[in-house]
Amino acid sequence: MKKLFPSYVRVPLLFAIVLVALEYFIDSGDRPAFVKYPMVALFLAVFLFLLVAIEIVVSAVDKVTYHLLTEEQKKQLEEAQTVSFVDSQWYQHWMSKLTRSKAVEQEADVMLDHDYDGIRELDNVLPPWWVYLFYVTIIFAGIYLVRYHFFGGENQAQEFETEVALAEEEMLKFKGNSPKETISLDQVTALTDPASLSKGQEIYKNVCAACHGPQGGGLVGPNLTDTHWLNGGGIKNVFKVIHDGSPRNPTMAAWGKTLDAKDVQKVASYVWSLQGTKPAGAKPAEGDVWKDDAAPTADASKPADSIPSAK
Ligand code: HEC
Repeated sequence: MKKLFPSYVRVPLLFAIVLVALEYFIDSGDRPAFVKYPMVALFLAVFLFLLVAIEIVVSAVDKVTYHLLTEEQKKQLEEAQTVSFVDSQWYQHWMSKLTRSKAVEQEADVMLDHDYDGIRELDNVLPPWWVYLFYVTIIFAGIYLVRYHFFGGENQAQEFETEVALAEEEMLKFKGNSPKETISLDQVTALTDPASLSKGQEIYKNVCAACHGPQGGGLVGPNLTDTHWLNGGGIKNVFKVIHDGSPRNPTMAAWGKTLDAKDVQKVASYVWSLQGTKPAGAKPAEGDVWKDDAAPTADASKPADSIPSAK
């Protein structure tokens, strides 16, 4: 039989396999293992040297023994070496064992004595390509078993958890870079500077106008320009309902989840600044009149911590 690979393929191939295996098993971070650990580089150098040395020695021994052979033996050897790997006895033997397929010449062996007007039936085994697929799945199963059940490969649930953990870490990092500004309810005052109000107006136009109307006259949501309030008036109550959402109606969402508290304060100040503007087409008043800063609203369901407005 001819050798399967010539030495100029065999040596680099073996070397590459060992190199890849080392890289796979040695955890060397972002640098290749043989760069990070000089011992690995040394090992690889010695390994390469040995590979070449063995090749040289083997071919030398082959040459010497060849010269020692008789003419007859030389002839036999040459004959044997012209047979390709696929034609070799060893390969043929194993392939017929693995697939149990019968050559066309041996058809008679699998012929059934069913004869339908000259159409005859063979009792063939599965075609070889099909059988090979089975062997591939068996090999795959073996690798899978070792990888995931002996060497602790991650299963789907673990993979998912690591990914979630990674994502959360990244989210925290991101949040760390842009910390959400918080502001507590009793720090909330109505801002009056034009910069804050125009920022508030901008947010209002983008987010709130769809439900409360472009001028605050109300659409889905109530009129924000009159003196009547469902959830209590005053800057603190307005801030609170924008920040936490309405406790009575989920359509008014908790915007503090998406907006910075400082921005909520700005938009609340803008809303509060709309008091008394009477936009055309405004909705009729809803809720109770917010009379006086200090006066409690008549509405008993109003938030417990509604604090008198700063305005
Ligand atoms: C999806 C529609 C919708 C959006 C968007 C919306 N709101 Fe509302 N809003 C409502 C509804 C409905 C109510 C009434 C809640 C209730 O009955 O308690 C409400 C109530 C309010 C109230 C209290 C009114 C009161 O009488 O007590 C304020 C203040 C308010 N919204 C401001 C805002 C601001 C500011 C924004 C933008 C950040 C906004 N809303 C976005 C629907 C919306």
